Amino acid sequence: MNMEKPKVSVEEYLWVAHFYDRMMKHVNYGAWSKYVMRMFDLARRDIRDVADLSCGTGRHLHHFIKAGFHCLGADISMPMLRVACSRPTVKNRLWQQDARHPAIKENSMDAVIMLFDSVNYLRRENEIRQLFEKVDRILRPGGLFVFDTVTEYMIRLHMTEYFETETWDDLAYERRSAYNAKTRMQYNNFSILRQGQLIRERHSQRIWTHKEMTGFIEKSPLTLLDARADFKKKPVQPRTERIHYILLKPKT
Ligand SMILES: C[S@@+](CC[C@H](N)C(=O)[O-])C[C@H]1O[C@@H](n2cnc3c(N)ncnc32)[C@H](O)[C@@H]1O
Repeated sequence: MNMEKPKVSVEEYLWVAHFYDRMMKHVNYGAWSKYVMRMFDLARRDIRDVADLSCGTGRHLHHFIKAGFHCLGADISMPMLRVACSRPTVKNRLWQQDARHPAIKENSMDAVIMLFDSVNYLRRENEIRQLFEKVDRILRPGGLFVFDTVTEYMIRLHMTEYFETETWDDLAYERRSAYNAKTRMQYNNFSILRQGQLIRERHSQRIWTHKEMTGFIEKSPLTLLDARADFKKKPVQPRTERIHYILLKPKT
């Protein structure tokens, strides 16, 4: 085994894609998707066409398609999309795209979603602003943009100095998390042992505050309809762990 020289991946999800679904086996994607679908009642139009701009391995997308929505799945990571391709429900609806400049027709979507920390991967203010502008273009008037972010409270509670490890027949991984409170950057450092090769992959996420996010939304063409805490209908509080933002493209 070559344990001396680890391969260092600079691309997020290049190797994690191989075990992402196994790592996330505790996540109830069906219930999460239904939680988001219920938000669609707030739209000012019927929702039929839905784009998931960070579909990853396609697990939310699967549930939206099963529920009868006409969906398109996009993600920046080709390895994640390759895994998504193995899901018969979603495989013919996938595109590799960067959510900061998606190549999707203007006024073609009734709803856009980006779920499970995906917006935390946009680490600079101008990337968030760019995202809101692009989503506004894609949406039809009266349509919705739903996304979530993790809060600093959640990171401090669960993901500061966090450590986990798992071993399967084909690979093993170790994940060490760290948080820099000054820069509000959270890091997930993966060491992956696969076919005798040690690979390292680092993920970094920006922990946006609710105040920052609402400030970005105020300056965007989209309108904030609601921000919901922890998979409920309740408002955001200091002990909220995850926030879902529901944005509307106003009818002019
Ligand atoms: C934590 S995963 C969530 C994936 C999926 N939404 C889920 O719920 O399992 C974050 C995803 O965001 C994607 N991502 C990060 N930056 C992106 C960007 N600029 N454009 C599109 N996708 C991006 C990653 O490739 C990854 O698949």
